[in-house]
Amino acid sequence: MRGVVGVQYLIHTLGCQMNERDSEIMAGQLETMGYTAAASEEQADLIIINTCAVRASAEDHAFGHVGRLKQLKEAKPSMTLAVAGCMAQEPGTIAWLKKHAPHVDLVFGTHNLHQLPRLLDEASERDEMLVEVWKSAGDSLAEHVPSRRRDGVRAHVNIIYGCDKFCTYCIVPFTRGRERSRAMTDILREVQALAREGYQEVMFLGQNVNSYGHDLDPKVDLADLLEAVEEVDGIRWVHYMTPHPRDFSDRLLEVIGASQKISRQLHLPLQAGSNPILRRMNRKYTREQYMALIDRARAAIADVSFTTDIIVGFPGETEQDFEQTLEMVREIRFDSAFTFMYSPREGTPAARWEGRDPVPNPVKKDRLNRLMELQYEISLEANQGLIGKSMVVLVEGVSKKNDSVWAGRSQTGKVVLVDRVPGIDLTDRFVPVHIDAAKTFYLSGSVTGDPLGAPSALGHALPLLQS
Ligand code: 5AD
Ligand code: SF4
Repeated sequence: MRGVVGVQYLIHTLGCQMNERDSEIMAGQLETMGYTAAASEEQADLIIINTCAVRASAEDHAFGHVGRLKQLKEAKPSMTLAVAGCMAQEPGTIAWLKKHAPHVDLVFGTHNLHQLPRLLDEASERDEMLVEVWKSAGDSLAEHVPSRRRDGVRAHVNIIYGCDKFCTYCIVPFTRGRERSRAMTDILREVQALAREGYQEVMFLGQNVNSYGHDLDPKVDLADLLEAVEEVDGIRWVHYMTPHPRDFSDRLLEVIGASQKISRQLHLPLQAGSNPILRRMNRKYTREQYMALIDRARAAIADVSFTTDIIVGFPGETEQDFEQTLEMVREIRFDSAFTFMYSPREGTPAARWEGRDPVPNPVKKDRLNRLMELQYEISLEANQGLIGKSMVVLVEGVSKKNDSVWAGRSQTGKVVLVDRVPGIDLTDRFVPVHIDAAKTFYLSGSVTGDPLGAPSALGHALPLLQS
């Protein structure tokens, strides 16, 4: 690996938290080589686009960005342009880049991002695009690769890579490969080190976190991991993303219910509310089983709240199917929902059915609007129910839209705007807040006491709030 001096990098990250974590690992390797973060594309000597393949809109966004960078590359030929992430795992992307974007210097995938230093060396010695994408992960997981986490007190920690579920609409099992769990000892060592560095919140990541550990010897599960992390001093909040409704054991619910640290917000992607659609999606649960899980969770976890992902316009979805989705949304009353129009992904079974039995685009749009309208009404009511309550908020900084308030999040993931107290910086502090008002997408309130615990050791020397 060659060291570099005064060379600047910029990483654009599209898509999910797994990609954000991958970008942190790319940044860590670059900073170990001597790169520093660039403030703009014009200043960067290396630009990496870390792409997402989950829907066509994300892909179009990445292609558009790569296209726009052609001019910059022509003006500054010494600049290196790299494309990484889930799209790089798709053969169609490589063909497109070769044809339409020969100004790209390097393409690497999700399984070999730990090779970045060597790949940059090789790309710099070539005149044409270097494509190095592993079809699958190697035998052993790449542990101990440096990473540069973003500032703050929240850290993302990978626990399981890949997905074996093969939902028929989803490209992820093809771009991220088979499920591979990290050893629990490695995860706990990482969390302990994070706590020593001053991080106070961890988000465990995986495409399917409740499959965690089934491939380890001896087998462990997510409940074991969450129970162990409860014991790590200094970690105040624990989240995990994303679980599958199918593998939610009673023990996992009990562990969450008994915990002081684990989020009581369950993100349970429903995807659809009709059994024939769920079957064709290969979700492996029925609406009745999903409802039973909601009931089990309500019984096991005090103050539990639910959020979800829903797709409308899956091939063959009828109006009656869609109404069954609306009915479930009305019955469960999710706090919020990520809602998507079905987007065919080449190589998946549903993309073939889309050719025979598509839901027309205007119908997809209409269903999305109706679903969002219903969900917004429910979200507003759920938020209004919190007026007058107190909750702890992790302040992330001054709101970008309104500098008289701080913006933060509750442990259940709600955005909370907090009235600023002059002369005090509460960034990265956990503060008790009284909720005074509620809107569809956020709550607002005022600070009622001192921040909890000591300030983080991450460089924010903060005065305590005087009450
Ligand atoms: N079309 C639309 N939405 C999709 N998702 C995954 N694949 C597709 C697709 N082909 C949604 C699912 C998933 C979320 C991350 O993205 O709802 O839970
Ligand atoms: Fe995709 Fe289904 Fe795996 Fe989630 S569980 S990543 S939706 S295949």
